[in-house]
Amino acid sequence: MGGVAGEFLSFDDVVIVPGEARVEPSLVDVTGRISVGRPLSVPVASAPMDTVTGWRLAVLLARAGAIGVIHRNMSVEEQVAEVRRVKESPPSIWAEVAKAGPGESFEDVMLRMEELGVGAALVVDSRGFHGVYLAPGVDAALWAGKAEAVRILYETVKPLPTVDDWGRLAVAAAVSPFDLRRARALEEAGVDVIVVDVAHLHNSNAIQALSRLVKEVSADVVAGNIGTREAALDVLSRAEGVAGLRVGISSGSICKTGEVAGASVPTLQAVLNARSALEELGLAGRIPIVADGGIRGPGDAAKAVIAGASAVMGGRIFAGTEEAAAPKVRVGDRLYKPYRGMASRGAMEARFAADRYSRPSKAIEEGVEGLVPYRGSALGVVAEMAAGLQAALGYAGASSLREAWERGRLARVTPAGRGEVRPHDVILG
Ligand code: XMP
Repeated sequence: MGGVAGEFLSFDDVVIVPGEARVEPSLVDVTGRISVGRPLSVPVASAPMDTVTGWRLAVLLARAGAIGVIHRNMSVEEQVAEVRRVKESPPSIWAEVAKAGPGESFEDVMLRMEELGVGAALVVDSRGFHGVYLAPGVDAALWAGKAEAVRILYETVKPLPTVDDWGRLAVAAAVSPFDLRRARALEEAGVDVIVVDVAHLHNSNAIQALSRLVKEVSADVVAGNIGTREAALDVLSRAEGVAGLRVGISSGSICKTGEVAGASVPTLQAVLNARSALEELGLAGRIPIVADGGIRGPGDAAKAVIAGASAVMGGRIFAGTEEAAAPKVRVGDRLYKPYRGMASRGAMEARFAADRYSRPSKAIEEGVEGLVPYRGSALGVVAEMAAGLQAALGYAGASSLREAWERGRLARVTPAGRGEVRPHDVILG
């Protein structure tokens, strides 16, 4: 074919066109889907990256109505154990708000709850969710003997947790399309969604392997990454039964692919392209599109949704959280967490060390390694994404994702307009 394919749009090239809202933002239903069979009350998934998603983040996200995709930079046995750990965790949506020192009295704790605006709290010991329930009026005697109690938990977010048919927390896990053994083992452990995790799925060998994998497992399979309409058409026609498309090439905050290989489909454009393929096949709205890479916050997520996404996937937004897989590091008087691309040198070395079946397909690094500021619990990220999406869809005049697909509109902005839609002409504190 040759020539220039056209113009690709990124999040910053567009704004959401305000439309008439028929419900208040707080009533906007942001329920989305990561795959055909897996709805999410907050349409957000964490990326399968070794500095981001292990069982801890996956547990928290499922409790908060989102979902985690456990990374594959570990042996099959280890990944299976992580999935089991999520499945065995109680689906409660209680979240940590404060630590209570062993010496604190009942009154101290009640006062702290009042300061935090917390009506009821669960006190747990250092081993986990075994504690006493505190609320105004409860007997102070409950506190006695709880000297080892260290954490106060309270219910912060209201969305339904993401659970399976048995009421256990739902979890996704990443596999290579060539790794049937891993996919089968994960399925046996109860994984709900298998996310096929390759940088460029539009490759005949990879699609052939995907087609086999989809036939062999009964869990939903989300396939990616792809960026073009042709890739979506090829995946859907050659790998029947795919339950979701993960789209976006080289837009991630740690990606170097665009730089070293010159190839990219910005995530917003990838969503538009996948939607166009689904429309052509009469499957729009039936097979979820997961927008992956470059999501900085709810504004980008809302643009992805209006373009046709059913969920967004984020690495960087979760990398700095308490529950992210990497340990905190201190630099000077500030806390950070490491964050690296899965095609960075360090992550690739870790993968080959952990799994002798994994095979290097490229001899070049396509990711960077760095640090992101520590930002507390991921629960705050989910709450911000949920509230921000409600507000954004409210502006778009949509009361649900489906309405956002049907009624939402995006408009291109000029570079001058782009400057104007960010805080400007003030010194930010
Ligand atoms: P964000 O922007 O949320 O992006 O940090 C996360 C997504 O980036 C992709 N990813 C990579 N892309 N080289 C790449 O080109 C890499 O090393 C790499 N690691 C992750 C992936 O799609 C992830 O979900």
